[in-house]
Amino acid sequence: MTWRDTALARRLGLRVPIIQAPMAGGISTPRLAAAVANAGGLGSIAGAMLTPDAIRAAIAEFRAASDGPLAVNLFAPLPRPTTARVAEWSALTGVAPPESFPAAPDFADQLAAVVGERVPVFSFTFGIPPLDGVDAFTVGTATTVEEALALERAGVDAVVAQGYEAGGHRGTFLAPVERSLVGTLTLVPQVVDAVSVPVIASGGIMDGRGVAAALALGAQAVQLGTCFIRCPESGASEAHKGALAGAETTVTKVLTGRHARAVRTPLVDRLEAAGLQPPDYPLPRYLSPEPPMLAGQGATWSRALPAAELVAALEREATQLG
Ligand SMILES: Cc1cc2nc3c(=O)[nH]c(=O)nc-3n(C[C@H](O)[C@H](O)[C@H](O)COP(=O)(O)O)c2cc1C
Repeated sequence: MTWRDTALARRLGLRVPIIQAPMAGGISTPRLAAAVANAGGLGSIAGAMLTPDAIRAAIAEFRAASDGPLAVNLFAPLPRPTTARVAEWSALTGVAPPESFPAAPDFADQLAAVVGERVPVFSFTFGIPPLDGVDAFTVGTATTVEEALALERAGVDAVVAQGYEAGGHRGTFLAPVERSLVGTLTLVPQVVDAVSVPVIASGGIMDGRGVAAALALGAQAVQLGTCFIRCPESGASEAHKGALAGAETTVTKVLTGRHARAVRTPLVDRLEAAGLQPPDYPLPRYLSPEPPMLAGQGATWSRALPAAELVAALEREATQLG
């Protein structure tokens, strides 16, 4: 048996247990997911900010380019934002609020699109959504052992253990975020010991050393986000790609209203220094002079390689380590 051959990899039909993380906001693209799937890993479509029609279109684009395995990812339903603090935040950022904020797509409609397309894997973050009628393989996101146990009780088929290093939003949904910042190296084995479903390690994995380490800790697959941001198939802006080398990242609420790890820019410094509570998620996105550049602590190692070459490099590096 090699490191590649885990029960989860067999169950999902993966040649390598490497999952390209869903990255909402147009960062991960169906093209990126297809390239990863064609290279033997699992590609993910970030459906959270898409309408049901856009989700169906993304799945069709993926299927035109790959007949490999696919995950579609959504956010568990969140409370509707109020407009509290919008005026003071707008005064702080200098961006006038739109006449009306775009409404978030309806979760039930999004899920119906995923189920209707018979996608093999459905992954989610931000809590535990209603899963009735979902016959896909389900993957929930945990940032603590308690969350992993709650997901297992809810019947998920696998758990992503998202460490503190991870780029993007914290998936935290039970304890306050400040008490749910466990590093990948400690979170993964704790979750492996606590649950009986397969565990997917996520957060700070940037090369074959990270892949091999995560599997040695008992994970059956790894989910990498930041590692794929600089791929030509990624939809990240040139500014975002260019900001990764040498980046300091930070977990902050000022960019979106929810704790997320992002590149620490002068804007983040300025908004944090004001000491104001941002408006509810996701309204700060619409009141920002620049889009958030979400990225993990490993940002500086992100490689500008085509996704297939990147997966092959990760595979080669992990194999060298046994
Ligand atoms: C730009 C960006 C966007 C993300 N968007 C999502 C998302 O839509 N859904 C999700 O479950 N996770 C999302 N994540 C988190 C990833 O699933 C994963 O936990 C994280 O990328 C792992 O850490 P790494 O970036 O160090 O690899 C995002 C991460 C990044 C960097």
